Amino acid sequence: MSKAIVINSYGSSEVLSYQEKVINEPAANQIQIRNTAIGVNYHDVYVRSGLYKTLPLPGVPGCEASGIVEKIGDHVQGFKVGERVTYCTREYGAYATHINISHDKVIKIPNFLSDELVATNFLRAMTVEMLINRITSVDSSKKILVTAASGGVGRLLCQWASSLGVKVIGSVGSQEKIQETKMIGCFETLVSSDEGFSKKILEVTEGKGVDIVFDSVGNDTFETSLASLAPCGYLINFGQSSGPVKPLLMTTLAEKSLSISRPILFHYFGTRENYEKMASSVFKAFEDDIIKVSNFLPFDLKDASGAHDTLESRKGGGSLYLIP
Ligand SMILES: NC(=O)c1ccc[n+]([C@@H]2O[C@H](COP(=O)([O-])OP(=O)(O)OC[C@H]3O[C@@H](n4cnc5c(N)ncnc54)[C@H](OP(=O)(O)O)[C@@H]3O)[C@@H](O)[C@H]2O)c1
Repeated sequence: MSKAIVINSYGSSEVLSYQEKVINEPAANQIQIRNTAIGVNYHDVYVRSGLYKTLPLPGVPGCEASGIVEKIGDHVQGFKVGERVTYCTREYGAYATHINISHDKVIKIPNFLSDELVATNFLRAMTVEMLINRITSVDSSKKILVTAASGGVGRLLCQWASSLGVKVIGSVGSQEKIQETKMIGCFETLVSSDEGFSKKILEVTEGKGVDIVFDSVGNDTFETSLASLAPCGYLINFGQSSGPVKPLLMTTLAEKSLSISRPILFHYFGTRENYEKMASSVFKAFEDDIIKVSNFLPFDLKDASGAHDTLESRKGGGSLYLIP
């Protein structure tokens, strides 16, 4: 028997219900993992609220965790019982003590990384790997704007980009978050609701605007993100923490010959070979201290609702994890 958080109907964090669940033997291509630390992502909030209807109900949410290999399906090679592993999955099921998961999602955790660091930041760091290496050229000639710069993905993105010599401007939701962004490579940080936001962007970019905006806030920042771009600039909208972006006219892009994309990490995994390559690149970035995280905030699996409430109060992204 395993224990799991089950969603029976969409709603607020109260719909996250802690239940017993039967765990079957792993299928031939699966590995059974005993989770030790489970990641909490905004994606889980969208699944719970019903914004994303990608989890058939009743269902167990959760896209990532660290754990220990407990059982191995007959056709699986290359893994041993007792190994420390992690996984990212869009088939969900991570909010549980145990999961049976296809072996091609499973990655071994290097010794130098803790279970909690991987559970809290593997998916986020993979997202940053995608944003920096796989969408448009991000190099030292570029000035970029990162919204929610002190958030879970934002702070990794600022650190990784600034390590490449990119000039990073951050935006945050409140004055008190500015200080945090000084440690992660932002040469300037602005409060996103500041009335003079666009004017300040022009001031710090010699009147040109930025080359790329990485916008994870969505609805509340989308217009200022477009306005912050230099001609021929690139808006990468990869999240919607404040709500989905409204429809956009192509003529709006034509005003400055702008490009726009809405990437989703899971589409960029591609083959197993590519997934491993992205994971190696992320592990190397942690090993080389290009990206660093130090604060962790555990919640009991039973109290997944507490973790969701904290995340939705704009705190704790990249530090929250569930202990089964
Ligand atoms: N496309 C992909 O494949 C992919 C992968 C990973 C994550 N994402 C998305 O990227 C976004 C950020 O993820 P994350 O892990 O960095 O999240 P996070 O750590 O929770 O950070 C989100 C930040 O967004 C800001 N925010 C602005 N308006 C908000 C609102 N109404 N409610 C809550 N937060 C608000 C807050 O910072 P301020 O207070 O400074 O504004 C908050 O700290 C999420 O939408 C997530 O789903 C997408």
